[in-house]
Amino acid sequence: MRLKLVTILAATAVMFLTASTPAWAIQAANVAVSVVEPAQAVLVVKTDVISDMTVDFGSSPGTYTATRTSNGLVRHEVTLDGLTPSGVVYYRVTVTESGNPANTATLAENSFRTTRPAGEAFSYAVGGDDRPDTDTVVQPLVWGTIVGQMASEGLDLVLTVGDIIYGLPGDSLERAAAKYDGFFAVTSQITGGVPLYPAVGNHERIAYAGSRSAFEREFTLPANNGAEAGTYGEEYYSFDNGDTHFISLCTELPGQEGLITGNQKTWLENDLAATDRTWIVVFMHRPLFSGLHPGDPWTNPLDPVGQQNKADIHSLLQQYGVDVVFQGHEHFYLHHQEDGIQYLITGGGGAPLHSPPPLAAGDIFSVAAFEHVKVDETRNTLQLTAIDQSGQTLEAFTIWALDINLVLDNVYWGSYTGYILRDLSVDYTLANDDAADISNIQVTGLDASGGVASITGTPFSVADLAAGQSTVITVDYMVSPGITSFSTFTYISCEDLDGNAYEFPGPYPG
Ligand SMILES: [Fe+2]
Repeated sequence: MRLKLVTILAATAVMFLTASTPAWAIQAANVAVSVVEPAQAVLVVKTDVISDMTVDFGSSPGTYTATRTSNGLVRHEVTLDGLTPSGVVYYRVTVTESGNPANTATLAENSFRTTRPAGEAFSYAVGGDDRPDTDTVVQPLVWGTIVGQMASEGLDLVLTVGDIIYGLPGDSLERAAAKYDGFFAVTSQITGGVPLYPAVGNHERIAYAGSRSAFEREFTLPANNGAEAGTYGEEYYSFDNGDTHFISLCTELPGQEGLITGNQKTWLENDLAATDRTWIVVFMHRPLFSGLHPGDPWTNPLDPVGQQNKADIHSLLQQYGVDVVFQGHEHFYLHHQEDGIQYLITGGGGAPLHSPPPLAAGDIFSVAAFEHVKVDETRNTLQLTAIDQSGQTLEAFTIWALDINLVLDNVYWGSYTGYILRDLSVDYTLANDDAADISNIQVTGLDASGGVASITGTPFSVADLAAGQSTVITVDYMVSPGITSFSTFTYISCEDLDGNAYEFPGPYPG
């Protein structure tokens, strides 16, 4: 018995001596492509120990034509420059523990795309309120599901509408940073290939020094907000991609919570006035319309300062032609339309769901669901699709760059002969409600449901319409006896004075 015991002890000792996998293998906690521009981008790499980092990159898979390095840090930021607009950049990261070259790791190759020129289509996604419900660094499971959906959508960028973490007023810089590490532990599956642009939520707690420093340290964002670039450079900002100008507003600036005022409001007006992009998309945390938080200045009807600010901000967005405003704070999906601006609440990122309020004036659709919104952008259209965590479409709609409207005016038998021949006439008013003149207008196709066929041949031309003008179009359908109702589908194409072509509601399917 004694001999056997000695043998076991000896074997245990040998196992310790030959253990070959170091417990200290270096981990890349976060890789995030950031501040992507036409010819450069910032690559952020964060490791669990102080490290040296090398990134090799180029325009073909596996072929690297440039190298950047950063040494002796936990969080590295390197600028990759000399890039091609709308070009795919392939890169490979190697991290090594500073002072311990044996502890090294090379990550799998990843890629991202630099920003598109105007006229080139791309897709992006919007989500938010992915914060945990308690004081933890662990993100809700469903946020991982949503990030996985985004990873399969072929996106150029992701916007989030705030409440990234569950911050507490007393959080130290390191405690708040650990919560962002928890966010990136899940979200890094997309941020290595798709830049993520956040808006600041109330749960980021930026009124408190530790939390604010952590937000500013853990995200690398555009800093272009003029007077406040030195103090709130990353809290609100704007950037371009394709035909869209994106604006991230901060509803949480200390002392201005729930408002857009002061320097930020001045900057917003200047920024809106300066853009020449077709689409203007704003994203921020608290909703201007349809909110439920009774104490919020924009939501509380008894708060005169808040209500005046709400009216001022909405009219500013309207004046400069903002198309879509993405918001969060309420943990549901809600589509509200106000004076032609689509206000979407997309707060179903993982925090406990709220029941949306009953639909009120201007509200179009709402649902309590874990969800995100995918946007397909072209020069002529924005297609928005709200998708739940199982992949089901909750709502989908399209908005057009030109404001052209077709309204059914009159349905009639044009004559007794027409009645006998079942030739039904339909009058539509085609209105150019845009500020641009349009020409080369054609009705490209006429379809109808229920076996009804158009008699009028297509395509046919319609007279040019200056801004604000309208005209009546009359077409005829063959409606067999017994048909009491049917739907018609009219396809129209036109051009603006710059020669851009538009198709409503899209190309005629034939
Ligand atoms: Fe919130």
